[in-house]
Amino acid sequence: MQLSNVIALVTGSASGLGRATAQRLARGGARVVICDLPVSHGANIAEEIGENAFFAGCDVTSEADICAALDQAEAKWGKVNVVVNCAGIAIAKRTLSKSGAHDLGIFLKVLQVNVGGSFNVIRLVAQRLAETEPGVDGERGVFISTASVAAFDGQIGQVAYAASKAAIHGMTLPLARDLMHLGMRVCTIAPGLFKTPMLASLPEQVQNELAKQVPFPQRLGDPDEYAQLAEHIITNRMLNGETIRLDGALRMPPK
Ligand SMILES: NC(=O)c1ccc[n+]([C@@H]2O[C@H](COP(=O)([O-])OP(=O)(O)OC[C@H]3O[C@@H](n4cnc5c(N)ncnc54)[C@H](O)[C@@H]3O)[C@@H](O)[C@H]2O)c1
Repeated sequence: MQLSNVIALVTGSASGLGRATAQRLARGGARVVICDLPVSHGANIAEEIGENAFFAGCDVTSEADICAALDQAEAKWGKVNVVVNCAGIAIAKRTLSKSGAHDLGIFLKVLQVNVGGSFNVIRLVAQRLAETEPGVDGERGVFISTASVAAFDGQIGQVAYAASKAAIHGMTLPLARDLMHLGMRVCTIAPGLFKTPMLASLPEQVQNELAKQVPFPQRLGDPDEYAQLAEHIITNRMLNGETIRLDGALRMPPK
């Protein structure tokens, strides 16, 4: 799919990987819905990008919020045909700790936002896209979600986060199979360590220690390197049903 034909909804795009993706796609000629929590800086990001973007304050787990954002995009530009799911939350908590057993509510909340939110957006966009005329090769749209290397090498304290990211990896192939007859592709990116606000706020020495764990290149990833891969997935029609690690060969140790 050519970026000039793309109407993308990028979740979590007020910050980090989602923000870099929204900016890159818009630079390439795509129109972009900045989808993030109402309390986020999404409006500022949309303003920075200009007329090819607008902010939709959404909780990705809400059907009503996502439908309202899609209605707005349709009224302005047409049907959303690309989703990049970057919204996510992380917690660090062991199964058992001095304070007792892992809180079940927190575990389920991480699954709800990371897995439920990603699936919610994909299912609602797919429903609307199914009604559109297909393009070259019968293609209608592309869905990209964000797992993590924690899906494969979850560390101590990452049980909830790793479960959610493994589920995102796990639903990639069945989603691609469910949607193949409609010309919709589904891929997942599993990033290693990227310099988003979360990591950038750590002391420089801690960032350097983390960077040393990456075999090559020995540094944290730049969010635009994630965005580059998202752009490639959108434009390369043979990519489908796959999770791609983007991690400089990093394999996380237990802690
Ligand atoms: N940064 C990394 O090194 C790294 C590594 C592996 C995976 N990831 C994953 O990449 C994604 C983006 O990470 P990031 O580092 O850019 O994080 P970030 O915290 O900078 O951005 C996440 C965004 O998601 C939004 N968000 C959270 N809950 C939401 C909800 N319910 N509805 C809508 N928006 C919501 C937040 O407001 C925030 O703007 C996450 O899924 C994260 O797990 C990041």
